[in-house]
Amino acid sequence: MSEMKTHTIAPGVELPALGLGTWKSEAGDCHRAVKEALRAGYRHVDGAWIYGNEEEVGRAIRESIADGVVRRDEVFLTSKLWNSFHRPDDVGKAIEDTLGKLGLDHVDLYLMHWPIAFAPGVGVPRSPDQFLPLREVPLADTFGAMIALRERGLVRAVGVSNHSASKLEALTRDAGEAPAVNQVELHPRLAQRDLLAFGEANGIHHTAYSPLGSNDRPDSMKKHGPPPLLDDPTVVNVAADEGVTPGQLLIAWALDRGTSAIPKSTNPARIRENLAAADHRLSDDARKALDAMDEGARFIDPRGMFVSGVTHEGDDFWA
Ligand code: A2P
Repeated sequence: MSEMKTHTIAPGVELPALGLGTWKSEAGDCHRAVKEALRAGYRHVDGAWIYGNEEEVGRAIRESIADGVVRRDEVFLTSKLWNSFHRPDDVGKAIEDTLGKLGLDHVDLYLMHWPIAFAPGVGVPRSPDQFLPLREVPLADTFGAMIALRERGLVRAVGVSNHSASKLEALTRDAGEAPAVNQVELHPRLAQRDLLAFGEANGIHHTAYSPLGSNDRPDSMKKHGPPPLLDDPTVVNVAADEGVTPGQLLIAWALDRGTSAIPKSTNPARIRENLAAADHRLSDDARKALDAMDEGARFIDPRGMFVSGVTHEGDDFWA
């Protein structure tokens, strides 16, 4: 295994290009997966408060440190502020809860999970009154409270997730600082070239979530999505030509275009398989074939969280 490529994100923090995703990692499996990943050589773990498994993520990291597998400063750990903690006074409570669950004194990156605010205590909103109007709790105020966490040393870098270019632009203007990272869905069927170009021009790194097409996503999200990405004939054929698995091909494509990627697996063999993809150099033909697959199709489109006039204006949350 060669040295893992890193990206420097604001304010000068090194983010390893490949990380382990933990969304949908079930209790028990998650702890084993994170330990297995660190043993295999991963140095980047992506988590979030809402995934409900931060105790396991933290315990796996702490045990790996105690076992001499890694030092804390070698592991890049991300968490995310859930939508029900957007009021600036609640942001400090949210990170304290996350750090308490992790059993750690800081995370390396803290992301605003969605540009959406729920009323405190709401898990999944059932009616428009369970949201907080963004004019009352502006995203820039939430982000300002996250920046304050960085100044207290509780997080090393701050960023966002699920933001469009127009939202990144507004946030940067209103908060007076650009997010270091925007973590969004990215794969060959959703290449988001304009968003990536905006990020590059403005010093915002992009991390690809669901790089494999997230086939274990909840059924409610499968109603709208395209067919499975790992079974796509182009992906399968190009992977065979390249001498890699379909999963490895998708990871190699994500890293080749300068994004970081956080494929999720709880299977030891696939955890190692995915890490090895970071060593694969994509051929020009493979890049061309995958680049031609873009159709703007989303696997992750939780429409129950989007209410026109409340969470966004107009019809399109992603505009
Ligand atoms: P498992 O955890 O059993 O390995 P995404 O990262 O896009 O959300 O995709 C995660 C899904 O892809 C999970 O169902 C995961 O299953 C599966 N997966 C992860 N790595 C691979 C791989 N290399 N080949 C096939 N499926 C994979």
